[in-house]
Amino acid sequence: MTLSDRPNLLVTGATGQVGGALLETLAALGNVVAPPRSEMDMGDPASLRAAIRNVGPRWIVNAAAYTAVDRAESEPELVFAINAEAPRVIGEEARALGAAVIHFSTDYVFDGSGHLPYRESDATGPLGVYGASKLAGEQALLASGAASLIFRTSWVYGATGKNFLRTILKLARERESLRIVADQHGAPTWSRDLARLAAHVIKRCERVTGEAPGDPDGLPQVVGQVAGIYHAAGTGETTWAGFAEEAIRQVRRANPGLALAEIVPIPSAEYPTPAARPQNSRLGGEKLFNEFGYTMMDWRHSLALVLAELG
Ligand SMILES: NC(=O)c1ccc[n+]([C@@H]2O[C@H](COP(=O)([O-])OP(=O)(O)OC[C@H]3O[C@@H](n4cnc5c(N)ncnc54)[C@H](OP(=O)(O)O)[C@@H]3O)[C@@H](O)[C@H]2O)c1
Repeated sequence: MTLSDRPNLLVTGATGQVGGALLETLAALGNVVAPPRSEMDMGDPASLRAAIRNVGPRWIVNAAAYTAVDRAESEPELVFAINAEAPRVIGEEARALGAAVIHFSTDYVFDGSGHLPYRESDATGPLGVYGASKLAGEQALLASGAASLIFRTSWVYGATGKNFLRTILKLARERESLRIVADQHGAPTWSRDLARLAAHVIKRCERVTGEAPGDPDGLPQVVGQVAGIYHAAGTGETTWAGFAEEAIRQVRRANPGLALAEIVPIPSAEYPTPAARPQNSRLGGEKLFNEFGYTMMDWRHSLALVLAELG
């Protein structure tokens, strides 16, 4: 089968930020299927297996996750079921089907020490339950032997969904002053950029597979050659306070009537949360560029596009 045969693309987490963007972007590539949670519960291996077998996809793009980082501290079993056990099940099913997997992971697999962008080969050391579960998910998927690509990303946002940008824009209309953490360094990543990356990679792998038509193992072999972990975060770096300042600066040009007068940068210690966050969330994108020729969008540029979309 080649791309022109309209492959089944099974997307999980389609009601989320990345999953929603995937639904829109991958539609150009084939028949996208996204069963609702009632038919595919990521916390229930039997439900997940049945849904995958029912669809029989050529690609599984897993954007579902338990993403409530602080709440995760108080319900680790559920968190590990969704973030670690589900990727294992996806890997096992994909392997049996000869399907390929795209999976998303996080900067929170690192402990945030140092000041350099993390490379894929750097030692991990999650600080909380969410990060530990995502790391276990990466390992389980890789151990399944399925042809899998794992994109670690950071600070995901977009025009829809629950995210930092939308919260800040709402607060900026209501409050005159905001205290925002300024000692965590990383890059905001546009959900649509991640969806475009997935489309780019699928197209590329399908093109290579199409060069040897008739080989039933073609796709897993092609993906297998580039399988593994890639860092895929917005280009550039900032802090949460820097992200908010830039967003407000851009918004104010069109909307001078915002209530917000000042953003006060604060250390993480002044904003205690149940889960600790890494102070260094920088993810270097060299491997992604070298393997796939893809560079993630500069975060300021994607911010302007998202703000334009929000109107
Ligand atoms: N958000 C970030 O800042 C961030 C940063 C780094 C990495 N990531 C990773 O990027 C990926 C996508 O994140 P996102 O921001 O798009 O997440 P999101 O907006 O929170 O969406 C999560 C999705 O997972 C689904 N889900 C959760 N539990 C489920 C279950 N038991 N059964 C079925 N579906 C379930 C949710 O469905 P419901 O709508 O039904 O709850 C939702 O569709 C995840 O792998 C995440 O770990 C995110």
